[in-house]
Amino acid sequence: MIPFERYEQSAAYLREKIGAFQPDVLLILGSGLGQFGDRVEDPIIVSYQDIPHFRHSTAPGHKGRFVFGTIADKRVAVMQGRVHLYEGYTPEEAVYGVRVMKLLGVKTLIVTNAAGAINAAWNPGEFALISDHILLFDATPLTGPNEERFGVRFPDMSTAYTPALRELARTAARETGVHLNEGVYMYFPGPQYETPAEIRAARALGADLAGMSTVPEVIAARHCGMEILGFSLATNMAAGILDQPLTEEEVLETGEACKDSFSKLMLRILETLWRYTARCTSKQEKGSRTHEGKNASD
Ligand code: HPA
Repeated sequence: MIPFERYEQSAAYLREKIGAFQPDVLLILGSGLGQFGDRVEDPIIVSYQDIPHFRHSTAPGHKGRFVFGTIADKRVAVMQGRVHLYEGYTPEEAVYGVRVMKLLGVKTLIVTNAAGAINAAWNPGEFALISDHILLFDATPLTGPNEERFGVRFPDMSTAYTPALRELARTAARETGVHLNEGVYMYFPGPQYETPAEIRAARALGADLAGMSTVPEVIAARHCGMEILGFSLATNMAAGILDQPLTEEEVLETGEACKDSFSKLMLRILETLWRYTARCTSKQEKGSRTHEGKNASD
C-alpha cells in the first residue's frame, strides 16, 4: 500500500508549483486526445517525472505531464497522458495522479480514452458517453488495506458515472452537433488487443466498448468522492468485427482526425458545467431546508 504521506508530498510539490491556483476539474486525456491540453489558458506545466513519487507515462501519444490553468473559465488540471497497468504499474500506482488531485481539491473527474467499438451499430471516429463499466480482471486500486482518508472500504458503484453530468454531456453533444453514443465500457488489461472470442464474450455480457484504461481511475475517483464523466473515442471496431487487424497507428490517427469535434464537445461541457454545480447547490439548499440531507443530490 502506498503510504498517505507520499500522496501528500506529491501534492505539496505541486502546490508550490501552482501557488494559489486550485483546480476543480481533472481532465485525463487518453490516446490521441492529448492536444486538448493545449487549450489551457495561462498554463502551468509540470512533468510527471519531476513530481516526487509520480509514475512516468510510457504509452505512445502520452506526453506525461500536467497542465494547470483555465478552460472556459473553469479551473482545470489536465493530465496529458496516464499510466496503464500494462506498463507494469500496479492498479494503485495507476491511480496515483487521481488521488493527488483529490488532495489539491479536485471535485470532478472527466476521463477520456480511446477504445474499440464492440457495438456493431457504432462507427470508428464516434464518441461515446460511458454509462457504466465492467471489470472482470483484477485491476481494482482498492485491493489491500483501505485508506480511510480517501474513502470507505466498500464504495458504492451504482451510479459511478454521475447521471446529472451525463445529461449535461448529452445536451452539450446536441448543442454542438457532435454525435455521441452511450454505453458500457469493458476493461481489458492489454497491451495485446482482445481476441474476437473475447469481444464476443464482452458483447454477450453487455459491453459496447473495449479499452485498457479508465476503470481503475474511475474506481479511485469514486472512492474519494469525485463526480465522474467518462468518454470514449471509438478509434476502431473491436477485434473480429471487421476482417482486418487492429493497429496502434489506427488508434492515434483516429484521435488526430477527431480532435476538433472532441475539443468542441469538451469546451461546451466545460462552458456549461456551472449548470450542474448550480443544480447541486440548489438541491443542497433544498435538502437542508427539508432535512433530506445528502441524498437530495441525484
Ligand atoms: N481494444 C482495447 N483498447 C483499445 C482499442 C481496442 O480495440 N482501441 C483503442 N484502445
